[in-house]
Amino acid sequence: MTYKIAVIPGDGIGTEVIPEGIKVLEAIGLKLAIDFQFDHFDWGCTRYQSTGKMMPEDGLQQIKDHDAIYLGAVGYPGVPDHVSLWGLLIPIRRQFQQYVNLRPVKLFPGVPCPLANRKPEEIDFMVVRENNEGEYSEIGGRINQGTADEICVQESLFTRKGTDRILKFAFDLALQRKKHLTSATKSNGIVHTMPFWDERVEAMAKNFAEVKVDKYHIDILTANFVLHPDWFDVVVGSNLFGDILSDLGPAVAGTIGIAPSANINPERNFPSMFEPVHGSAPDIAGKGIANPIAAIWSAAMMLEHLGESKANELILQAIQEVLRGDVKTPDMGGRANTGQFAKAIIQSIEND
Ligand code: NAI
Ligand code: MG
Repeated sequence: MTYKIAVIPGDGIGTEVIPEGIKVLEAIGLKLAIDFQFDHFDWGCTRYQSTGKMMPEDGLQQIKDHDAIYLGAVGYPGVPDHVSLWGLLIPIRRQFQQYVNLRPVKLFPGVPCPLANRKPEEIDFMVVRENNEGEYSEIGGRINQGTADEICVQESLFTRKGTDRILKFAFDLALQRKKHLTSATKSNGIVHTMPFWDERVEAMAKNFAEVKVDKYHIDILTANFVLHPDWFDVVVGSNLFGDILSDLGPAVAGTIGIAPSANINPERNFPSMFEPVHGSAPDIAGKGIANPIAAIWSAAMMLEHLGESKANELILQAIQEVLRGDVKTPDMGGRANTGQFAKAIIQSIEND
């Protein structure tokens, strides 16, 4: 069995951390007799600057039969962010029906936590973000641009199917964990879509009697992430709320350089995509100091999705073992570079 992986390192530190993730995959493959075929695609902002396109016209066609997509980061100064995002990442997420964006938040022993006196067992939850609709829509427009009468409208789009399927995924996940689901809402201010969201949560909860459900408005929920991270198990939110929470979560757990994510098509009609939460980090790109954990952990999530649970476990164990030592990248208070840190993880896998 050979897994065909479409590799899109993208921009900035994406091109620095993804090669390290591939080395880890190769090491684990050697250990557990898993074969990979990595097909590389140079899609991203550099390509945009020379061709006017983030990816070729038939890009999605080229990767639709792969078992999974492994992506670095997309976006770089010089290309407007909405152009790079909508030219590559969003088409993949939407056309491949990757409607679940799953983002674990976990404080590892050995990683300095910005919150005082928090222990690793107190910060361990999952953010489930709706990934296909909601606030991130192309519906809207501008008129009288550049004048004093300028008007701008942007519509959110919430479908019952789209809402129910993400909620079902989140409830199912809660059932496998501590059976506690928190819903992010804002039904006091956003008076159409958010009361609808709340109604669908209540309706879905009826099918999951064992799961304790609570909800918070997004403003106080962000405060509670900081004040009470131990309150959470599975947190579900719309595209926008989930996006915000899934950067805040990892920050609470020490560094965004750790946070992985999975863009999942649960029905497996299309490949799912695995990528760090972080972006291309132009401020540190080219210095070789990016933390590769987010990319490596994303690769582990990819293996789990492919059914290779043992491989996922071994990689997470190796990450945790290395974090207990002194080899760390600067964002975690250490002095190791990207390659040195990844090498330590690979050695830990090999010695296991
Ligand atoms: P960013 O995540 O690239 O950087 C935010 C801060 O975190 C920076 O100070 C950076 O140095 C630090 N950081 C991020 N990853 C790190 C790592 N692995 N190790 C150490 N430090 C790390 O977010 P920013 O600056 O808002 O966006 C930069 C570009 O990336 C933009 O063009 C943006 O659109 C794009 N972006 C792409 C994403 C994606 O491909 N999924 C996600 C977020 C941003
Ligand atoms: Mg984000």
